[in-house]
Amino acid sequence: MNPLDMLKLHDADSRSPEALERISPELEALGAQEAVRWAVQQYPHGLVLASSFGAEDMVLIDMLTRVDRHPTIFYLDTGLLFPETYELIRRAEGRYGFEAVRVAADLSLEEQGRQYGPALWSTAPDQCCHIRKVLPLKNYLKDQTAWITGIRRDQTPFRKNSPVVGFDPNHGLVKINPLAPWTQKDVFRYLVKNNVPYNPLHDMGYPSIGCMPCTRSVNPGDDPRAGRWAGQEKTECGLHL
Ligand code: ADX
Ligand code: SF4
Repeated sequence: MNPLDMLKLHDADSRSPEALERISPELEALGAQEAVRWAVQQYPHGLVLASSFGAEDMVLIDMLTRVDRHPTIFYLDTGLLFPETYELIRRAEGRYGFEAVRVAADLSLEEQGRQYGPALWSTAPDQCCHIRKVLPLKNYLKDQTAWITGIRRDQTPFRKNSPVVGFDPNHGLVKINPLAPWTQKDVFRYLVKNNVPYNPLHDMGYPSIGCMPCTRSVNPGDDPRAGRWAGQEKTECGLHL
């Protein structure tokens, strides 16, 4: 029997935290590509990939489009992404043949500026992330069944116990993290080996890329996330808390 068939959950169990916890190590042992394939087979309706078009997400786009001819890939458009990121979105769409779903805040940047001041990301970054990322994500995920993300255990303290699959109680759906056990080296090795397009900023000292005002380049040897909200306590935008 195909190992993936043995991990297929009955409909009644497909959102059960206990059932997901039981199969997570087995999916992890099969590897990221098989975890993505499992997700596509297990959740034929309402499976979405959250993509910031960073290095990890490009790996996942490559893997997902190998096993799903009509994938749903969405991005949270804060209005503050780098021009290189917007350009990569168009490039990835052309290369892999999908149309990314744009998810954005109700509040435009102009309205946000009028209500809270012109640079909320400097004065209250948690509030800015909440308005521009966390609320739109919550609103989008409430209609979905399962989401795939590019989080890795070694990225932040909050992520160190992330399972490959589990129930996400914050958003009320299944969460799949196929790259949870991967290192940054694994990610870039995959990109190069498979000739996957990636953000040119990665080669210019930006290992981790978010919004323009909150992302700096880092020096060789620095923590790869040192350029995210540099100089502040903040290490997470709140999507995965
Ligand atoms: S963050 O919390 O610090 O911003 P990070 O950049 O590490 O998150 O990305 C982790 C994962 O969160 C990505 O692999 C992706 O699945 C999801 N994600 C982050 N930013 C976005 C975005 N703008 N749109 C969609 N998904 C995102
Ligand atoms: Fe605002 Fe910065 Fe968060 Fe982007 S990363 S939503 S600019 S605080």
